[in-house]
This record gives sequence, C-alpha cells and structure tokens, in this order.
Amino acid sequence: MTTRLPRIAWLGGDGIGPEVLDATRTVLDAIGFRAEYIPADIGWKFWCEEGNPLPQRTLEVLRTTTCAMFGAITSKPATDATRELAPALRERGFTYSSPIVQLRRQFNLYANIRPARTFTSIPTPVDVIVVRENTEGMYAGLESRPTPPALLAALDPQRKLPHLREMDPSDVAISVRISTRAACERIVTRVFELAQSLGRRRVTLVEKANVLRATGGLMVEVARAVASRYPAIDFREAHIDTACMDLVRRPGEFDVIVAENLFGDILSDLAAGLTGGPGLAPSANIGDNYAVFEPVHGSAPDIAGKGIANPCAALLSATMMLDWLDHRERATALRAAITRVLEQGTIKTPDLGGNATTKQMASAIIAAAN
Ligand code: IPM
Ligand code: MG
Repeated sequence: MTTRLPRIAWLGGDGIGPEVLDATRTVLDAIGFRAEYIPADIGWKFWCEEGNPLPQRTLEVLRTTTCAMFGAITSKPATDATRELAPALRERGFTYSSPIVQLRRQFNLYANIRPARTFTSIPTPVDVIVVRENTEGMYAGLESRPTPPALLAALDPQRKLPHLREMDPSDVAISVRISTRAACERIVTRVFELAQSLGRRRVTLVEKANVLRATGGLMVEVARAVASRYPAIDFREAHIDTACMDLVRRPGEFDVIVAENLFGDILSDLAAGLTGGPGLAPSANIGDNYAVFEPVHGSAPDIAGKGIANPCAALLSATMMLDWLDHRERATALRAAITRVLEQGTIKTPDLGGNATTKQMASAIIAAAN
C-alpha cells in the first residue's frame, strides 16, 4: 500500500527565513519524516521586482499543498516600500501589503496559535499559549488616507470630532478595527476546544472593552456565552494594558490567552520576550482546511546570511506542523529533543548567549533526537 506523502509548501521568504527553514528541513529529514516539499516565491524581492510580494503563481501552488512552512518576511511602511519598487513599476498604483497577513486572510487561517514557554529552569517559569484572531481587528486592511469627508460624516454623525471636518482629507488617516460575531465565536470556541484538549485550566480573554466598546464589547459578549459552555475551564477577562503588566509580573496567572489580531500580535511578542526571546517562539496559523506554520520572529536583516540564526522557533513550528499532520509521536520526540538541547545549554546560538551556528544547533537537536 502506498500512502500519499503530505505536500508541504516551503516559503523561505526574506532575511534569516531561508536559513532557519533549511535547518528545519535537515532535522525533519534526519528524524525520518517524509514529505514532498514545494518551494514557492514570497517576499520583498518579489515586491521590488514584480510589485507583489505574494505572486499569483505562489497562491496557485499553495492551493495544491497540504500546508505550508513559512520562514520570515520583511515588512516596511508604505512610503519606504514604494521607494524600493523597480523604477518601471513606480506610479502604477502598486501598494505593499504584508504577504503573511494576506495568506492568513486568503486561506481563512483564523487561529494563530503561539505557545511561549521557558525551556530552562528559572525562578518565574512561563508557559502560556497566546491565540490570536487572525482575520479581522486592526488587520482587516480597512484603511484610508486621504479620508473621504463622506466617510467621516458617516462615522461621526453627531459631530463628536468637528475639527476633523475642517482638515485637508489627506491629513486625516483612518484604520478601522472590525469585529464580527462569527469571527469572535469561532476563535473563542477554538480556544476553549484547544484548552480542553490540552488539559489547560484557564482561558483569559484580553480586550479593552471599556474603551473600544463596540468591537471589544462584542468580543466580551460572545466570549462569555462560549465560556458558559465549558464550565470546567476557568474563564477570566483582562484589559490589554493590565494584562501586559500582569504577564510580566505574574506570568503564572495566565494559561491560554485569546485576543483579537493586534492585541494578540503584541501579547505574543511580550510572551516570547519573557521566555528567551524570539528565537524560541513558534506559531501555527490554522484554518478549517489549511495551515501555515511560522516562527514568530521576523527576517532579522542584521544577522541574515551569517548562519547564526536560532532555528528553534522554526523547528518548534515544525513540531506544531507534525501534530497538525497527525504525526504526534514524531512531534513529541522532536519537541523533547529541542528541550533537551536547550536545557543542557552547551550548544547555543548568539541570541541565547552562545556562539553556535544555525547548523550546529540543528545537529545537536538531531543527535538528541536519535
Ligand atoms: C507577526 C508579525 C507580522 C504581523 C508582520 C510581519 C506583518 O509581526 O507575525 O506577528 O504583524 O502579524
Ligand atoms: Mg508580531
């Protein structure tokens, strides 16, 4: 009998992305995981040369795959992006939009699961999972500059902000935070299901419903209703500001956190910062039919090409992929090998205070796995 191998899109992207994915591939091969790997174009180069960091051909390739591993991406603000476009493409209306954000939206990868835990014994261990809503909030892409006067009038019928109406529309910029009942419901339900399946004790919703009354209020309302269906799991609510402070001071009070897109983005970096930095923070973007696994870190241009990037975040993301593909034993074994190497602490990349290369770290993990 022949079993079909999973087809995994391999999206190195920018900076250290390709390096950490190379190391990941070496380790996956060494532990005996078999798959078909399909490289595809994504990243800054394609923006500069084609006006699109996520070319159509890449989307077509992705549609033929089981899931994707993604390395890292360079994202720059609009004016910098336009300046770096090939001269022939300038003033033709191309606007930069982060390809990873596009992927999450296009494939409806609504749950961004970002575990953060300490691997070495320290006085305040951290073990939290941040689940970030991945399709709406401030990332929905509903933005405008200039802001058409009619839009302002519709958003502010009572003229609470009359001074805006007198301004030049090009001096008024607007980014809309959008939240729907359906998206709130599916993310919170997913989080409770995850907490239940992992035997986690608590879910904390992080919002700011005292100020963001419409969007935050909807999320709180939905979360309370969903939480009532899971009486065995302790449900808490926290404001984003105090949650940041408490996460630093008393991380043990958090277990699984659910937050809208931007709050989840910030909280997951904060949590990663508490556990040894971005070199150890993995993530999984999961939808109903597709998933993209990626380290939380960026493209780190300062160390790109030097062969010293920490591959652990990508490798831990690969363990999440193995779990999703139902190769659970292999996932557990690989996680244990990574944990052993980090606990021993003799082979460490510079971000962890050592001087090992990406390849040496990968070799140590392979040795620990065998
Ligand atoms: C992340 C990153 C991305 C995001 C950037 C690169 C667009 O910060 O995955 O957390 O903001 O989602
Ligand atoms: Mg981020």
